[in-house]
Amino acid sequence: MILELVLAVHTIVAALWTGATVFIAGAIIPAAKSEQFGSAALSIITRRYRYLTIGSVLLLLFSGGHLAGTLYTFETLQGSGRGHLVLAMVVLWLVLAHLAVFGYRKLTATDDESVAEAATAARPLFYAGSVVSVLLLIVAGLL
Ligand code: HEM
Repeated sequence: MILELVLAVHTIVAALWTGATVFIAGAIIPAAKSEQFGSAALSIITRRYRYLTIGSVLLLLFSGGHLAGTLYTFETLQGSGRGHLVLAMVVLWLVLAHLAVFGYRKLTATDDESVAEAATAARPLFYAGSVVSVLLLIVAGLL
């Protein structure tokens, strides 16, 4: 019962975080680049994404750690195909966490920066974050 609950939390948080990352890259950044909304709207969006990122990084680590500790041993993690997928998930989690943190820092427009400039600076990080998000979901789908 606990394991199923942890896996459900893990999967829901994974979907929310990867989905938000792809949405920012595909919708928010193009709209910000063409100044369709102002810095106040952008700072609300960026702040919410920051909270989601911090919560997701921690929840995925704890729930993933529990899943790994329950379903795998040290040997099966490094010696089985499924174990390698879980290790790939951990590496991609670390990469996405860094891209997300640097990304929302760039997307936070400074006083002397326009919304379009902040979006342009953040774009490569969110595009890379979207690629990593899709890779994570592929790895999860293979499990
Ligand atoms: C520290 C980071 C993470 C750890 C330790 C971890 C670990 C795990 C483990 C052990 C499982 C169960 C594997 C099995 O059933 O044999 C799992 C499943 C899953 N993980 Fe992660 N994970 C992490 C991060 C992520 C991230 C960032 C995502 C984002 C997409 C993700 C998405 C999933 C999904 C969707 C499943 C369910 C797969 C299924 O059984 O259908 N995980 N994870």
